[in-house]
Amino acid sequence: MAETLSGLQAEVTRLREEYKRELAAVSSTTELEEVRVRWLGKKGNVTQLLRSVGSLPPELRPAAGQEINSLRAEVEEAISARAAEVRAREQENRIREERLDLTLPGRRMPLGHLHPLTLVLQDIKRFFIGLGYQVVEGPEIETDYYNFQALNVPRDHPARDMQATFYLSEDLVLRTQTSPVQARTMERQKPPVRIIAPGKVYRVDADLTHSPMFHQVEGLVVDRGIRFSDLKGTLAEFARALFGQDRAVRFRPSYFPFTEPSAEMDISCMVCGGRGCRVCKGEGWIEILGSGMVHPQVLEMAGYDPEDVTGFAFGMGVERIVMLRYGVDDIRLFFENDRRFLARF
Ligand code: PHE
Repeated sequence: MAETLSGLQAEVTRLREEYKRELAAVSSTTELEEVRVRWLGKKGNVTQLLRSVGSLPPELRPAAGQEINSLRAEVEEAISARAAEVRAREQENRIREERLDLTLPGRRMPLGHLHPLTLVLQDIKRFFIGLGYQVVEGPEIETDYYNFQALNVPRDHPARDMQATFYLSEDLVLRTQTSPVQARTMERQKPPVRIIAPGKVYRVDADLTHSPMFHQVEGLVVDRGIRFSDLKGTLAEFARALFGQDRAVRFRPSYFPFTEPSAEMDISCMVCGGRGCRVCKGEGWIEILGSGMVHPQVLEMAGYDPEDVTGFAFGMGVERIVMLRYGVDDIRLFFENDRRFLARF
C-alpha cells in the first residue's frame, strides 16, 4: 500500500489501467455487476484504497483523498457508460433472437366437414323435397302398436322374426324401422300424403354390414288413384338421381306385412355396370330398398278408406347406400369417428 503521495498516485494509475481493461472485457450486465462490486463494493478496490489513507501522514491525507475520490467518480461514470452499451447490445441480441417473420403464411385450421351419412341423407332429402314431399320425424322409442300392429303385424305374428327387436317392455320397443312414422302420419293428416321420414332404427344384429343402430329413410305417398306405376317411376328416378343416370333398375317380388304387393328394387351394379363383380357378388344387380303398395288393412287402421285412396311406401337403409356409393366395406367405420376415415369424404 502507498506510503507516499507519489506511491499512491502510481497505485491509482495502475488501478485506472486495470478497471479499464476489466470494463472492456465485460459482455453482459451480470458480468458488469461483478465488476461494480469488485471496484465500488464494501470490499472493492477503490473502497479499500480509501481506507488506506488513514495510514498516510496527516498532511498528505487531503490530497490522497481527493485523488482516490476522483478515481471513484471516474470508475462510477465509466461503469454507467459501459452499462448503457452492454444493455443496448443485449437488447439487440434479444430482438434478433425473438424476431418474427410476419410475411410467413399462417397455419391452416383443419376444417371439419359433414359425415358421409349426412351427405347422402342430404341428397336423398333434396330429391324428394324437389318432388314436393315433406320431411317428418317420429320417436325412436316406439310403442309395439306403431312399430308392429298398426303395420299389420299382430302380436306373435311370425313376421316379427324378420326384425330382431330390442324390447324395452311388453309395449315399448326401440323402433326396428321407420315405418311406424307412416302410421303416425296417416292418423294425423288426411290424404293427400307425401312424406319421407329419416331417422335412427335399432335391431339386435352386429357384423360387417349390420349395426345395432342404423339409419333408414321411409317414404309414403297416399292419394286417390296412386298406382304401382307411380311407385316404379318415382323410385327408378330416385335411383338414377342418387347413383347415376345410366343405372338400370328392376323390381323383384317380395314380402312385407304392411304392403301388398311388395317389391324390392335393385339397381344395376355401379362398379361393373352389370357384368358381375365382387361388389354385386357376381349378380350384376344390387338391392337398395324395399317397397310396395300400402296394405288396405294399414290404410283402414289409420282411418283411411282403402276404397277411396291408395298409396305406396318404401324404406331404405342409409348406411347401405353410403357403403355402395363410396365402397365402404365395414359399417362400424361410420360410428367410430376415426378422422382418417371421415376425411375421405
Ligand atoms: N320397413 C321395411 C324394412 O325395414 C322397409 C319397407 C318400408 C318396405 C316401406 C316396404 C315399405 O325392411
